[in-house]
Amino acid sequence: MRRPLIVGNWKLHCTVVEAIALADSIRVAVGDPGPREVVIAPPFTAIYAVRGVVCGTPIGLAAQDAHWEERGAFTGAISPGLLHDVGCRYAILGHSERREHFAENDAVIARKLRAVLAAGLAPILCVGERASEREQGRAQAVVAGQLASALAGLSPEALPGTSIAYEPVWAIGTGMAATAQDASAMADAIRRQLAATWGDAAASVRILYGGSVSPANAGEFLGRQSLDGALVGGASLNAHGFAAIVKAAP
Ligand code: PGA
Repeated sequence: MRRPLIVGNWKLHCTVVEAIALADSIRVAVGDPGPREVVIAPPFTAIYAVRGVVCGTPIGLAAQDAHWEERGAFTGAISPGLLHDVGCRYAILGHSERREHFAENDAVIARKLRAVLAAGLAPILCVGERASEREQGRAQAVVAGQLASALAGLSPEALPGTSIAYEPVWAIGTGMAATAQDASAMADAIRRQLAATWGDAAASVRILYGGSVSPANAGEFLGRQSLDGALVGGASLNAHGFAAIVKAAP
């Protein structure tokens, strides 16, 4: 049985004061999440302060990215161990905004994924096709390629701690979510691919949908058997909206 996982990706939003206020409002609005797991990903600068708000509550912390090295001469980088130290238990990796604006390729994402696992964090690996790739009928092939290279050589023991977020690039921040049918078809393809390589270990991997998830459409995605949760961007900056998405999960 996979626990539903709802992740709020705050992206580049919130000063420390704003982040504390938002985290506190989310804590109150979500209340007891029941069987669902709720995680928020503030910007790096606010993680430690937000930890003070969510510590001892059911809300967990994720980083929006992590570097592949643990320490050394890497100016500006933040390592998985440092993220663990400030209270993160998850790290979002390979988000399409990282791929696009920070030139992250599959090889870099694969290195980060291994470093994150080695530090005891659970990776949330983002995969997803661009609009042109979907138009050309290549969506599943693109996602399969991203998945294969990020996870290549991973041990079956490491796999269950990993979540996969299917986020079609054209659906992120556009208000044009994928249909629940297309999202769940992709989730099925992802699970088949994982099972083909890792067998039974694939059954415990959580597969999320992300891309313009809102309180209005969350139920359509979260009601699907093949989707185990959501990665929420814009709508996670509103405590009541985010809590409504959490409650839309079974
Ligand atoms: P969005 O972002 O919900 O604002 O579309 C999702 C994401 O980038 O993870």
